[in-house]
Amino acid sequence: MVIRGGRPLSGRVEVSGAKNAALPAIVASLLVDEPVVIENAPKLRDVETQLALVEALGKTARWEGNTILIRGEVSSVEAPGEVVSRMRASFLCLGPLLARFGEAHVPLPGGCVIGARPVDLHLEGLRRLGAEVEVREGVVHARGKLHGGEVWLRYPSVGATEQLLLAGAVIREPVEVVNPAREPEVVDLARLLSAMGAEISFSEDRITIQGGKLKGTGHAVIPDRIEAGTYLLAGAITGGEVEVVGARPEHLTALLAKLEECGVELAAGQRTVRLKARAPWSGVEVETSPYPGFPTDLQPQFTSFLALARGRSVIWERVFESRFGHVGELLRMGARITLQGQAILIEGVEGLRGAEVVATDIRAGAALVLAGLAAHGETRIEGVDHLRRGYENMEGKLAQLGAKAWVEELNGT
Ligand code: UD1
Repeated sequence: MVIRGGRPLSGRVEVSGAKNAALPAIVASLLVDEPVVIENAPKLRDVETQLALVEALGKTARWEGNTILIRGEVSSVEAPGEVVSRMRASFLCLGPLLARFGEAHVPLPGGCVIGARPVDLHLEGLRRLGAEVEVREGVVHARGKLHGGEVWLRYPSVGATEQLLLAGAVIREPVEVVNPAREPEVVDLARLLSAMGAEISFSEDRITIQGGKLKGTGHAVIPDRIEAGTYLLAGAITGGEVEVVGARPEHLTALLAKLEECGVELAAGQRTVRLKARAPWSGVEVETSPYPGFPTDLQPQFTSFLALARGRSVIWERVFESRFGHVGELLRMGARITLQGQAILIEGVEGLRGAEVVATDIRAGAALVLAGLAAHGETRIEGVDHLRRGYENMEGKLAQLGAKAWVEELNGT
């Protein structure tokens, strides 16, 4: 992606459906043979990968606009390594296949290179529900008739919580997940599973799922809070004025509070957030944590924003142990940042300059896009594939805000 930066963005941009809500929703289709219709799905690479997964397991999937129609019977309980290695969220098929058919064979997942990202909590959880789990040559082999029970997560992992919700939806006894993740995407999955016929309730420290005979259903996924946050930060870092339409402010409270602390003007409506920023903004201290804390998926983008803040900032990355792929690249653009263990120490600078940089994962790529929009001169970001995994029509949306950003394909167009 090539960006000619240095101009304030202004205008309105509409947020797409949440990638991280669409991915488990697609896997939920494996729980039934009846059709499942997913509305407001974002058209992006990771969603295509998840559809390739359920198709490899016997389903057919068809797009109509932003709606996906998934139908057909499950014909295999063996997930292809070629798909699972591309994306971590495809590992979510383990629980539903196992719970429904009594066995599942799923390779250990790939995905973004942001720390070790083990799946021990997923496997321990399924073992607690009666699964026999073996890992041989990189493939998880799970067998057994699952029963109800209480699963305590020592960390509120999003993926492990979703894995257990998906499995619990067909177990005829209550499954209790203690210390679960409470991200809006987890709640959205629970809403879908409830519409399919499971009984799910949230209390202070747990989620209880009573599974049953499920049926197909339709479900509209929630707006993407990380995409919304990315465009808000694009407005902020360029000292611009933008409105993100379709965003749910209640899903963005940690980001909005930090932006206000920096001195950015915000106005939140029911389904929209408007922002007006003027340099210089103040530096702040931020710590990522599970929802409703500051999302790790906005940490790289916020790093870019703070690179241009007045004074010092500190970001503590508490969710992943090495999510700093953007930092070295921001240094090449003139940022003053040092890494100290899990902390990023930022000394604000007055301007960034365009450079040739490399995106190492989805959100690191987004951080470089934001830096490029604010920088003087031209920024060339290699690794657009990462952006395509997580952002629907990013060039188009940036253009709506007046950015000069385009993608040069390898053939030079
Ligand atoms: C999901 C999101 C991802 C986001 C992350 C945290 C999707 C598709 N992806 O990823 O965008 O950054 O939540 O909000 O929804 N962990 C373990 N053992 C496990 C599982 C996780 O130690 O079995 C650790 C991970 O290494 C990591 C932390 O827990 O340090 C958080 O991971 P988790 O919440 O599971 O994230 P994902 O579901 O992979």
